[in-house]
Amino acid sequence: MALNLVACLISLVISSVFPQARALHHTQGFFGFTPNLVDFISSTSSPSSSTSIPPTPSFPETPPLVPAFFVIGDSSVDCGTNNFLVTLARADRLPYGRDFDTHRPTGRFCNGRIPVDYLALRLGLPFVPSYLGQSGRVEDMLQGVNYASAGAGIIFSSGSELGQHVSLSQQIQQFTDTYQQFILSMGEHGAADLISNSVVYISIGINDYIHFYLRNVSNVQNLFLPWSFNQFLASIVRLEIKNLYTMNVRKVVVMGLAPIGCAPHYLSEYRSENGECIEVINDIVREFNFVMRYMIEQLGKELRDSNIIFCDVFEGSMDIIKNHRRYGFNVTADACCGLGKYRGWLMCISPEMACSNASNHIWWDQFHPTDAVNAILAENVWNGLHSNMCYPMNMEDMVVPKQK
Ligand SMILES: *[C@@H]1O[C@H](CO)[C@@H](O)[C@H](O)[C@H]1NC(C)=O
Ligand SMILES: *[C@@H]1O[C@H](CO)[C@@H](O)[C@H](O)[C@H]1NC(C)=O
Ligand SMILES: *[C@@H]1O[C@H](CO)[C@@H](O)[C@H](O)[C@H]1NC(C)=O
Repeated sequence: MALNLVACLISLVISSVFPQARALHHTQGFFGFTPNLVDFISSTSSPSSSTSIPPTPSFPETPPLVPAFFVIGDSSVDCGTNNFLVTLARADRLPYGRDFDTHRPTGRFCNGRIPVDYLALRLGLPFVPSYLGQSGRVEDMLQGVNYASAGAGIIFSSGSELGQHVSLSQQIQQFTDTYQQFILSMGEHGAADLISNSVVYISIGINDYIHFYLRNVSNVQNLFLPWSFNQFLASIVRLEIKNLYTMNVRKVVVMGLAPIGCAPHYLSEYRSENGECIEVINDIVREFNFVMRYMIEQLGKELRDSNIIFCDVFEGSMDIIKNHRRYGFNVTADACCGLGKYRGWLMCISPEMACSNASNHIWWDQFHPTDAVNAILAENVWNGLHSNMCYPMNMEDMVVPKQK
């Protein structure tokens, strides 16, 4: 852990050369970020290459299946939010992004695309811009916004030791801002129509374990058994989905948590012998997913005209790990980028720490899967192509109602 911290500090020193984030820090403090301010700061200091919105690869000229795609979450789906924050959790340097469409770092915690990139293309939409990375003009938000922030959790303080992040409730607040701007520019009916036909994708919760529960912050392990901690997290997510519902959100995809007990970080920390997953951690994740799936099922019945699905990424990921050869992976335990046992001891901070070809690896870094895994998981969310992950239906059936 101590050496991890050293790497973190080195990383912070490197990130301190980005003037935008520092200016933002001094002028705005922790919470009041607005895209316009970011825009202003970007235009008054030299923009870093990582802050531009990447072009979307060409896709068939068919009309989009939904008007817009909104993303809420953590590093599993952050596409650039943290580039504007003072935090250790930033993916704005190579080798991050080296296999992305632009071969440039963007803030995505991956060598290439994250699941919401693949899903945006499935919906017939361009890659969704990050809330802090776009101009703040309504035209730039009409096809969706990504509010996700690496290190963020369901609980406000989860991940705070990494620096700034935008927590779940703050992201909902930002969504509220977007919604109000839609109302101002297209009227209440127009905004309600757009939002109710769009999809909101939520992928958050793992940091409440990585950075809160498993670190026993505030003596939490003595006060809460995993089961009641799970219930607590689920109750917060339930409340936030109800908040979204009051803003006319009707289609929601809630992602479960990944098998983080198989991530190189924990294989290294818990001294896995032959790459076997750390079951005490995976058990907690399994339980969380169980609680969330039940909560979502109940909530779906309660909220009229809603269409809320839960996708158990644990199941889909374990299928990939178990049947890795069938999927074309021959490295299951070691990260592509990092240092130490399983390359999970020290975080990925330089291109020299990375393997030459990530496509046969399951894990890109200490905590995050490779582009190849993200593509498979996105296909599962879309139509269960490789294994069924979503309940009570897949995303495709949610947005393209079955023909009678
Ligand atoms: C959690 O922390 C408290 C005090 O900080 C300590 O008494 C307790 O033993 C810790 N629990 C575990 C399981 O480590
Ligand atoms: C995985 O496969 C690649 C290419 O097929 C090969 O170069 C590499 O040595 C293999 N790695 C392991 C750990 O088997
Ligand atoms: C990585 O390996 C895969 C197959 O093992 C191959 O198709 C791909 O071209 C390689 N990528 C690079 C950048 O070498």
